Amino acid sequence: MNVPAGIQPFLRFRYLGYCGVWFGNIRLFKDGVRLRCVACGSLHPPDPWLFTCRVCGALLDVVMPANTSFKWGRAGRLSVWRYRDLLPLADGVEPVSLGEGGTPLVRIPRVAGVNVFVKLEGSNPTGSFKDRGMTLGVTIARSLKIEGVIVASTGNTAASASAYAARAGLRCLIFLPRGGVAKGKLLQALLHGAEVVEVDGFFDDALEFVLEEYVLRGSRNLYPLNSINPWRLEGQKTVAFEIVEELGGAPDAVVVPVGNAGNISAIWKGFKELWEADLIDRRPRMIGVQAAGAAPLAITWSTRSRGLRIEENPTTIASAIRIGKPVNWVKAIKAVEESRGAFITVTDEEILKAMMMLAKLEGVGVEPSSAASLAGYLKAVEEGLVDRDERVVLVATGHALKDPDAIKILVDSPPRL
Ligand code: F0G
Repeated sequence: MNVPAGIQPFLRFRYLGYCGVWFGNIRLFKDGVRLRCVACGSLHPPDPWLFTCRVCGALLDVVMPANTSFKWGRAGRLSVWRYRDLLPLADGVEPVSLGEGGTPLVRIPRVAGVNVFVKLEGSNPTGSFKDRGMTLGVTIARSLKIEGVIVASTGNTAASASAYAARAGLRCLIFLPRGGVAKGKLLQALLHGAEVVEVDGFFDDALEFVLEEYVLRGSRNLYPLNSINPWRLEGQKTVAFEIVEELGGAPDAVVVPVGNAGNISAIWKGFKELWEADLIDRRPRMIGVQAAGAAPLAITWSTRSRGLRIEENPTTIASAIRIGKPVNWVKAIKAVEESRGAFITVTDEEILKAMMMLAKLEGVGVEPSSAASLAGYLKAVEEGLVDRDERVVLVATGHALKDPDAIKILVDSPPRL
């Protein structure tokens, strides 16, 4: 398939008619929730099946009604559903949940100083941040009373979708790049009973296949839960809420590893919504980290290119972010620009060294893509993008056990710290 730019495959989407907010006798979304095009700004009704703008074909963001009732500091543990008032689903919708969110925020004084925290998203039920989005996405899928869900994945989306689908009693169909997925993730998907199809090529090919064959054709049996789905991303914005609640305010910067670029966009959206609701008095700079061999966004940003600079042959040890055509590139560039942040690239050596530093000096086990956050932070300090005394949160997106082969590389030939 020949796809010249990140969002273009979606230009060919057909819109299949109005769905509204009622499904059967379930009211799915809160009053006032809308979808807005990230490129032309057109507004659309809240439709779970609408993924691209009917006017220009670009991706959509959920627009929340102004919230005046939310207050910080209520009793109870942190979690995705604690922030239900700030999420688009209507109050009567019963969540498909495994207790996602509420992940630890720990300081890493030995490797980065007392002002730097790691948000351990590997502590989510399936071991990655994807669970924050899947709890919403699969809740919607179940409410739609359809057969199941479908995703393309570098592994974690697959593991998460398959667990939540199993919990909801739904079918889960997964497309993976052959040979490109860490063992732990593939086995998780199989454990939870997903149907797995391996695609020759990269993640980008697997995603294009899913979009062309299942979404574009207007099939409504399987609900697509890749990050083209703006409802899924709403769950992921809750990491911003937890960070603010734990720190008692927004940090100076948040560092996020970037692949398909849904997460950095979602986290920024979370901070923006808090800012607009007067719930924080400052917004952090968003720093996106990409592996040097798979850095389409870092290149697009640093060259001020108007179109996405696609990487046709992405390579990196961090298989979760081995992505050459991030679909959310418009959203991610906006997140970095609006927040006055930056994109940074790190080499595989730097990623492995950061993984080892976190493991050996802080007791924090993360997979390579997550270690990119620390590698990116260290480089940002070196390059003067971040001051050492600034309060910074590094998002550690997935657990070390996801990728035993990467651990083996470190154990067999440990980098010098
Ligand atoms: N870190 C981990 C551990 C991931 O699994 C991913 C993405 C990212 C970072 C990047 O997040 O795509 O929102 O920019 N994994 C996807 C997957 C692509 O299929 O599991 P992103």
